Amino acid sequence: MRKKLLLGNWKMNKTPAEAKQFCLDAREVVSYAIAHNVDIGVAPTFVCLESVVANKPEGLIVSAQNCSEHDHGAYTGEVSIPMLKAVGVDWVIIGHSERREYNGETSKACNAKIKAMLASGVTPVYCCGESLETYEKGETKPFVAEQIRVGLEGLTPEEAKKVVIAYEPIWAIGTGKSASKEIAEDTIGFIRRTLKESFGVAAMDIRILYGGSVKPNNIAEYVSQEDIDGALVGGASLEPDSFKGLVENLVK
Ligand code: 13P
Repeated sequence: MRKKLLLGNWKMNKTPAEAKQFCLDAREVVSYAIAHNVDIGVAPTFVCLESVVANKPEGLIVSAQNCSEHDHGAYTGEVSIPMLKAVGVDWVIIGHSERREYNGETSKACNAKIKAMLASGVTPVYCCGESLETYEKGETKPFVAEQIRVGLEGLTPEEAKKVVIAYEPIWAIGTGKSASKEIAEDTIGFIRRTLKESFGVAAMDIRILYGGSVKPNNIAEYVSQEDIDGALVGGASLEPDSFKGLVENLVK
């Protein structure tokens, strides 16, 4: 059985003081999620990680939004995996479409980062998803399959089981135009079959999230689907009330 996972991606929002306030306000809802056997976490900016680690409710997963594949050295502006671990962070989102678009991140670069994370015992949340143009051309499946194949190349089935995949169609991110549950399940089921080709039965243990305009009023539809194991949520994860709404609708 794959455990459900709700991960809030805060993107470039919140100061450390605001992040602390969120932690204080989210105590009850985090306990509630954990009591209902749901993994729950947030991904703050680098500068907020220490504040969240220091103030977080017990059991809240703290994830970074990116990392370097290198441990240290002349890489201006980068943050390494050992640095993240030193502040108590052992999850990292990798290959978000915004990083692919604005920072030129490729699936091959993600592959190097994922391997470095797995070697350090850090959980990667590897994002994939197609643009509106690719979707309209009907090329979603080959596009996403290539992102998965390149991103996870060279992993053993045991390693692949430790990766979380997030399918986020770019046309649904921050637009309020979420993919229907049928479209999300169709692509996510396809991703699982693609994973099966590389990793065999281990694919059945890999958690795959849907992301893209997930809100308290639609999260239940997604997680009721056979292959969808939770959600990666942007805007609706920022305020404690809305975060609570996501949890309540996910568990019911
Ligand atoms: P929204 O939930 O704001 O659409 O963002 C989705 C996302 O990109 C999460 O990583």
